[in-house]
Amino acid sequence: MHIEDLELDDFDAVGAAAQLLVDGFRGISPSWPNLDTALATVVEALEDDCLVRIARADDGAVVGWIGGIPDYDGRVWEVHPLVVAPDRQREGIGRALLADLEALVAGQGGLTLWLGADDEAGRTSLGGVDPYPDLLGALAAIRDLGGHPFEFYRRCGFARRHRAGRERAGAAGHPDGKAGRAASDLTRQPSGVRNFT
Ligand SMILES: CC(C)(COP(=O)(O)OP(=O)(O)OC[C@H]1O[C@@H](n2cnc3c(N)ncnc32)[C@H](O)[C@@H]1OP(=O)(O)O)[C@@H](O)C(=O)NCCC(=O)NCCS
Repeated sequence: MHIEDLELDDFDAVGAAAQLLVDGFRGISPSWPNLDTALATVVEALEDDCLVRIARADDGAVVGWIGGIPDYDGRVWEVHPLVVAPDRQREGIGRALLADLEALVAGQGGLTLWLGADDEAGRTSLGGVDPYPDLLGALAAIRDLGGHPFEFYRRCGFARRHRAGRERAGAAGHPDGKAGRAASDLTRQPSGVRNFT
């Protein structure tokens, strides 16, 4: 497996990346019900100063990809999206894609990576419940009920934060979980977050 840039004129790879969104998020999120919606996301991810990196298997097949979106003049980057082929998960590809993006971001002066990991299918203890009044307590006690990726991000050094009831998928019962980590070896602690957006 190796990781490289996704080029917009590599139509096979762009199509494969889109198909991964459809396959990887099936039953998890309604965001990519078909190839057209997924293709739009891939093209959007390739805009401007964004980073898009793909993981290729030894036979050249695209088995995962990650996007990075700069903010705050490139000091803060959002990870969006990240997906690994269902039949290649739990092989370290997701971690490798995150590490690769983190190194690129840090090399460009980025300080923080953050991401959203929504629960749109009741896969955590926060799904379908009102986390108030003890919002932080509910977040600290979050439990996985069905393979939600928050534990993956925790294992990759991200710390939890939460933006309940606001923006994006933060509709009632669909918590909009966030996680962040410092994009620098200098502050690489397990909970190495030193600023939040
Ligand atoms: C989440 C996802 C990107 C993880 O990629 P992956 O290649 O399977 O993850 P890795 O093999 O690199 O796993 C790294 C570590 O996290 C753990 N892990 C991975 N997914 C996990 C999960 N759902 N729950 C708990 N632990 C998980 C692995 O066991 C491994 O643990 P280790 O520290 O013992 O080595 C992948 O499962 C995926 O594409 N899921 C569908 C799309 C999705 O949810 N994307 C993220 C949206 S925010």
